[in-house]
Amino acid sequence: MRIACIGGGPAGLYFGLLMKKENPAHRITVIERNKPYDTFGWGVVFSDATMENMRAWDGETAQAIETAFNHWDDIEVLIKGRRMRTTGHGFVGIGRKKLLNILQARCEELGVELVFEREVDSDLEFPDADLIIASDGINSKIRNRYPKVFRPDLVVRPNRFIWLGTNKRYDAFTFDFRRTEHGWFQAHIYKFDEDTSTFIVETTEDVFRAHGLDQADEARSIAFCEELFSEVLDGAKLMSNARHLRGSAWLNFNRLICGKWNHFNGKSHVVLMGDAAHTAHFAIGSGTKLALEDAIELTKQFRTLGATPDKIPDVLEAYEQVRAVDVARIQNAARNAMEWFEVVGSRYADTLEPEQFMYSLLTRSQRISHENLRLRDKAWLESYERWFAARAGINIDPSGPPVPPMFTPYRVRGLRLENRIVMSPMAMYSAADGVPNDFHLVHFGCRALGGAGLIFGEMTCVTPDGRITPGCLGLWNDEQAAAWKRIIDFVHATTSAKFGLQLGHAGRKGSTRVAWEGIDQPLTEGNWPLISASALAYTPANQVPRAMTKADMERVKADFVAAARRAVDIGFDIIELHCAHGYLLSSFLSPLTNRRSDEYGGSHQNNARFPLEVFRAIREVWPHDKPMSVRLSCHDWTEGGNTPADAAIYARMFKEAGADLIDCSSGQVSKEEKPVYGRLFQTPFSDKLRNEVGIATVAVGAIYEADHANSIIGAGRADLCALARPHLADAAWTLHEAAKIGVKSVSWPKQYLSGKTQYETNLARASAPSPPS
Ligand SMILES: Cc1cc2nc3c(=O)[nH]c(=O)nc-3n(C[C@H](O)[C@H](O)[C@H](O)COP(=O)(O)OP(=O)(O)OC[C@H]3O[C@@H](n4cnc5c(N)ncnc54)[C@H](O)[C@@H]3O)c2cc1C
Ligand SMILES: Cc1cc2nc3c(=O)[nH]c(=O)nc-3n(C[C@H](O)[C@H](O)[C@H](O)COP(=O)(O)O)c2cc1C
Repeated sequence: MRIACIGGGPAGLYFGLLMKKENPAHRITVIERNKPYDTFGWGVVFSDATMENMRAWDGETAQAIETAFNHWDDIEVLIKGRRMRTTGHGFVGIGRKKLLNILQARCEELGVELVFEREVDSDLEFPDADLIIASDGINSKIRNRYPKVFRPDLVVRPNRFIWLGTNKRYDAFTFDFRRTEHGWFQAHIYKFDEDTSTFIVETTEDVFRAHGLDQADEARSIAFCEELFSEVLDGAKLMSNARHLRGSAWLNFNRLICGKWNHFNGKSHVVLMGDAAHTAHFAIGSGTKLALEDAIELTKQFRTLGATPDKIPDVLEAYEQVRAVDVARIQNAARNAMEWFEVVGSRYADTLEPEQFMYSLLTRSQRISHENLRLRDKAWLESYERWFAARAGINIDPSGPPVPPMFTPYRVRGLRLENRIVMSPMAMYSAADGVPNDFHLVHFGCRALGGAGLIFGEMTCVTPDGRITPGCLGLWNDEQAAAWKRIIDFVHATTSAKFGLQLGHAGRKGSTRVAWEGIDQPLTEGNWPLISASALAYTPANQVPRAMTKADMERVKADFVAAARRAVDIGFDIIELHCAHGYLLSSFLSPLTNRRSDEYGGSHQNNARFPLEVFRAIREVWPHDKPMSVRLSCHDWTEGGNTPADAAIYARMFKEAGADLIDCSSGQVSKEEKPVYGRLFQTPFSDKLRNEVGIATVAVGAIYEADHANSIIGAGRADLCALARPHLADAAWTLHEAAKIGVKSVSWPKQYLSGKTQYETNLARASAPSPPS
């Protein structure tokens, strides 16, 4: 085959040499606009897994790289006068120049033709090529010639960075955070050869401009960074080698995803590779790794499907399918890490204490979890667990086992929870006339015995016409109150769990069938009239509600207050006001459902007016030493709907009105929603609200392992973790998870103690290495 690789970066060179090695008869040319050995940038890092892959495909290159590698294990963080270090993180670094030289030399050795100092403008310059590799980097001219085919989605990220080097050698991957009068800067520093370290300085656009760096030439920018980071530089100078860049040497990262990676131009097949196809932010340092792995995968597909011109279409399709999945996974982690650095100044650097800040930094990509940190550096993690426990008010015996974050107590007003696990509200649709019955006693009783610190009742309605279904629970009469009291008394007398009431009104989503007879479907008979912020039906099948009048609002507010008074008498420990999921109060908060033109609609202030009136009225009758939470839909997942930024505005208002916690849910406001589900998918909302608004939060949504909860609580992304479905599957989720991670200090009900011992023993046996046969 005749192959032209346009662009002699890691992708083009490595693919060239791998294919030549596969079959020396292939005629392969790599065309590079720069001179040999002339490149920008300093060091790049990649992982042991990439090296293993490379070893399998070309041992010679891998060995040359390994000889030139710098390996280090430690991460050091400098912030607010503190210098903290952890180990076990295993990175390898190499100079970009060195890497390219190794690849160039190997190409020459194998007979790949290298053409330097030729700028390619079009793939049509190579009409004889069977295959053209567009490995011409992020600004790929080849890709840009076919935007309709490749569908590039390029987002310019907001932060500014400058990629510098220094001759000071660091023995750890070092992060240095510095505050100026205008805001925060961070430096990412790592050594990549015997006398050079990469030194990337990053900040937000507004801080960058406030310091006049948009007007600064390279020399002034370097002088600025040298002064700001003088402590960590310790007299060393910073250097640039980006002289080919025009104007400011400060860049914005471009995040790129392409809809399609290959195209037939009429003469040749063209395929994107490396940065031309996708980018991953340097916060997880994987751009070069992705480029090299692309090259390996394409070679592998040729080896599997056949390296002849007629096989090219199938090979390119297979390559794209495999790589698109891997790349999406890395891009996801890279996005989390990148976003962490974009908000670090406004969200974490000022608010978190250095210890927790460091934990948050280490877990920023959400690929490294609590237990993963334990594997990397047990001593550090245990010291962090002790620090966290002390902050939570418990003193751990320094010689005894530490307590992971989810098992530390939590105090809010006069309420003390034994641990950070909450059973999330879950409608069971099993009541008649709103009265809790034996099902509810057993359901809540079992779960309270199962170890969660706080059990929430399901959405409990304040009036019969405020129910979602005829099976919903209520608290509008004495009979219901007495039945609730029986359950609360059982929980308080028999377990250490606290019991919460979620108060709500269904609004336009009311008068429907129980879940298993058709979610959101109107009743076949006996429907009751609905009210909402505006006269908009939830779906065409549902009733059109009446837009609430002032009199309706007064009546509903009084209903909430009456329910709250009953809650005081029967001993609930906390009230959560349900302002999420499109129910009545949520219908005021979302612009999708609130189209009012009076003082109850049209702005954040107006949209929140009625929910806040209800909240304040309850707060007045609810005892001062008992907390209140508010559940919000932090994202409507719908064009024109609320986003986390709106949720932060509402959270601030509820905080000012006396809310203690925001329970950060999302969605169910509009049928048009397009939620992005996934592990911990709503935790970023909790993280934002907690650390930007400064209010305690509950994270909820696809949290299902102790490791998830520990990572969230440990990093300060939430104060509590609520789990719904896991508690349906396992009433004793908390007790079982404690045993799984080896925490023995969690107490089981005294009646069940012999079960605890057997369960722990069986787990220990199952994880012990099997004896030789
Ligand atoms: C600040 C920063 C830090 C980074 N740190 C890391 C890190 O630690 N680890 C890591 O793995 N990655 C890192 N990267 C990313 C990494 O540099 C790229 O992801 C990687 O180089 C991609 O390889 P590539 O071959 O696809 O593209 P490139 O390396 O960009 O190579 C493209 C080549 O094509 C040439 N070219 C472009 N247009 C033409 C044309 N029209 N004609 C001829 N030649 C052309 C260019 O001169 C260039 O040599 C970092 C990037 C930045 C910006
Ligand atoms: C059966 C069921 C009923 C639910 N009922 C309620 C409810 O009454 N009030 C509420 O705010 N959320 C309700 N939810 C949402 C949960 O509280 C929780 O936010 C959601 O299930 C995500 O958590 P998970 O991934 O742990 O299940 C319900 C969820 C389920 C599965």
